[in-house]
Amino acid sequence: MALRITVIGTGYLGATHAACMAELGFEVLGLDIDPDKIAALSAGRVPMYEPGLAELLVKHVPGHEGSTGRLRFTTSVEEVAEFGDVHFICVNTPQKKGEFAADMSYVDSAVDALAPHLTRPCLVVGKSTVPVGSAGRLAERLAALAPVGEAAELAWNPEFLREGYAVGDTLHPDRLVVGVRSEHAERLLREVYATPVAEGVPFVVTDFPTAELVKAAANSFLATKISFINAMAEVCENAGADVVQLAQALSHDERIGGKFLNAGLGFGGGCLPKDIRAFMARAGELGADQALTFLREVDSINMRRRSRMVELAREQCGGGFLGRRVAVLGAAFKPNSDDIRDSPALNVAGQIQLQGAQVTVYDPKAVDNARKMFPSLAYADSALEACQGAHVVLHLTEWQEFRELDPAAVGAVVSERRLVDGRNVLDGPRWRAAGWTYRAMGRPGAE
Ligand code: UDX
Repeated sequence: MALRITVIGTGYLGATHAACMAELGFEVLGLDIDPDKIAALSAGRVPMYEPGLAELLVKHVPGHEGSTGRLRFTTSVEEVAEFGDVHFICVNTPQKKGEFAADMSYVDSAVDALAPHLTRPCLVVGKSTVPVGSAGRLAERLAALAPVGEAAELAWNPEFLREGYAVGDTLHPDRLVVGVRSEHAERLLREVYATPVAEGVPFVVTDFPTAELVKAAANSFLATKISFINAMAEVCENAGADVVQLAQALSHDERIGGKFLNAGLGFGGGCLPKDIRAFMARAGELGADQALTFLREVDSINMRRRSRMVELAREQCGGGFLGRRVAVLGAAFKPNSDDIRDSPALNVAGQIQLQGAQVTVYDPKAVDNARKMFPSLAYADSALEACQGAHVVLHLTEWQEFRELDPAAVGAVVSERRLVDGRNVLDGPRWRAAGWTYRAMGRPGAE
């Protein structure tokens, strides 16, 4: 009989994983403690913006015309324990308040809630990003609390999906990594992932700590790559060089490659910033803090981008923000997402407002979330509305919609034609041809 799968925690990761498991042909039951989220998902509505996910839900939750009915959601942990052969834990591990370390309380609670109801053999698979060493600790906790004892086995299977591409990344990942302690666990996970593996996705089988570390190492590498090119952008600013041309020249070297070399406002979101901090904290506990001191620098280079953006905006406003109107294009931490967690764009908007400017923000998808979190900023329903009367326009999240803006049309509504491109993707010559001062980060000559 086909494996029955449960997914515990239905945020970005869990909702996507549950829908993709149904797409792969499994019967799936998703669990969350938030009844509103469960009601929305059960009705086929996605509580966040993630391209392609709503279509998958409608295709698989019961009650929609032609749906497979394979995907259901519940708030009952007893039902989940009874239903599943494989339980995926997909709850989040945010940064602890006032500390670098990861808050493991949601993962711990998930195991504590599930384990006492496990009365038949099953595999519990952690997908959350956790400090190395957590899986070993959780395996003991699981076996101690579960009525079936060690027949409730643990495995670790880190998730590498990117927001905005979550469905594609889950169905066609670059690689699958599983940390296991038995051949039985490996066999079950091979069964779960039989389709992507048959399509050629590499399947890496390893121990718990290596599996946990792959995730921390991958995110650290990506963050380092971004901060490296942003450090080069700082040097370019002082040397009169152009960081975009520099990155292009570097990318021809196959050992370096061109991805994650876009200089600009730097990284944000619910993963990279908190994951590199949690990794430093964990390395400290393990006595390996020196190995990761470079990540402190990666973090500070990244945070400096935000102050540099504020400086560039101030320069364009003639040296001070008082009485100036600033249009901010973008609120999400990256395009194709409505996620505003640690958003560089909103951080910059907030700083500029504190320094006396009148700031109006527009984002194609993230305005509702931004308004809840930053109610004191003004919001517009379109880019043109945000730019009305602006002394400077800041392009801070690179939505496709902003690349397609007509410089003449925007020029007709602003007070002054001044644009700072925080993502280095707008067509500078086109904006300049329409009479704009175009300033980009790490490209002092591109004015
Ligand atoms: C990231 C990892 O890519 C993913 O594997 C992991 O599972 C979770 O964290 P995500 O946070 O969704 O995913 O976004 P990603 O596309 O990696 O971008 C992260 C941040 O880096 C964004 O703020 C983005 O704007 C920024 N970025 C990315 C750059 O500033 N320059 C680049 O060249 C690439």
